[in-house]
Amino acid sequence: MQIETRLNLKLLNTFGVDATAATAVRVRHAGEVRDLLRNRQLCAQPRLILGGGSNVLFTRDWPGLVVLPDIREREVEAGAGDAVTVIGGAGEPWDGFVHWTLGLGLAGLENLALIPGTVGAAPIQNIGAYGVELRDRLLWVETFDWIRGRLQTHYNADCQFGYRDSVFKRELADRLVTRVAFRLSRKPELELDYGEIRQELADRSIHAPAPRDVADAVSAIRRRKLPDPAVIGNAGSFFRNPVVSEAQAAYLRNQHPTMPQFVAYGGVKLPAGWLIEACGWKGRREGDAGVHASHALVLVNHGDATGGQIWVLAQQVRDSVSQTFGVTLEPEVRVV
Ligand code: EPU
Repeated sequence: MQIETRLNLKLLNTFGVDATAATAVRVRHAGEVRDLLRNRQLCAQPRLILGGGSNVLFTRDWPGLVVLPDIREREVEAGAGDAVTVIGGAGEPWDGFVHWTLGLGLAGLENLALIPGTVGAAPIQNIGAYGVELRDRLLWVETFDWIRGRLQTHYNADCQFGYRDSVFKRELADRLVTRVAFRLSRKPELELDYGEIRQELADRSIHAPAPRDVADAVSAIRRRKLPDPAVIGNAGSFFRNPVVSEAQAAYLRNQHPTMPQFVAYGGVKLPAGWLIEACGWKGRREGDAGVHASHALVLVNHGDATGGQIWVLAQQVRDSVSQTFGVTLEPEVRVV
């Protein structure tokens, strides 16, 4: 178990903001987590588990222990018929894992290509893109329970998955995800109806796409729309798309006839990017904290913004959307 003190987190969060962890420990397997548990001094500190750092905004230093799960593991288990179970260690980079499954000829994760982050972080916010959510493919999540000192398996139905939500964001927020299992298939059933996927495939003259073609199309769309964190600091969508009642949606439709609305998640989903753009924020910047010029839902660090400055900007954006539309935006990103 590798313990570090005063670890700089700038390279460990995709916003690229400066922050320091008082202590940090990298864990490579469940045995090391048990070692950590035996270290009373470390365990007494407030604990933060940091995966790929692609969904977090540090507004201050972390006064306690940061746990960096570095569990690398890829396993395939034959299932019944065309079904195949694959298992990934929490520290596997997500996109590499997706491409590994595609290389095995397995379908299921292609729409989730190029999402930043790790396998272990994926179930926490039930990552989703282009018509597929993680919960559609997930079999179980294995976590380490710090109190009982043992591993626990949570089957899909126990994870309380919702839109960018799961039990691991709430009651079990302190759990360390160690491994995640997915149910994939040798027989592709492709989801092509979301957004521009069909158009992108047509532009590439692909008429009978394989899962890998879908992953390539989704990756191309993402690269066009979303800024690359390696070039400009960001954490993808900063806010969740708000889901409002049908009555509120009808009122807003009446007031703003061009507002896009989608029936989803037991209500009507409003694109937060549209709301923010309509309030005039797209491309604006306050110092080095900014709203991205081609996607208003993405807040960016143009260079040396602090997490605090980005958070101030986020609150201004939230207040202005609330005043204009009466809709409250909730951060999707974890704000520390
Ligand atoms: N829009 C605007 N202006 C903008 C941006 C968006 O008007 O500046 C409107 C457009 O009408 C567009 C609509 O918003 O049609 C939706 O935009 P987009 O298709 O880019 O999707 P999104 O709702 O902004 C969600 C996820 C993304 C995911 C995409 C594709 C959330 C919070 N975000 O974004 O996930 O990649 O759909 O499925 O649900 C992430 O979670 O970090 C993320 C990037």
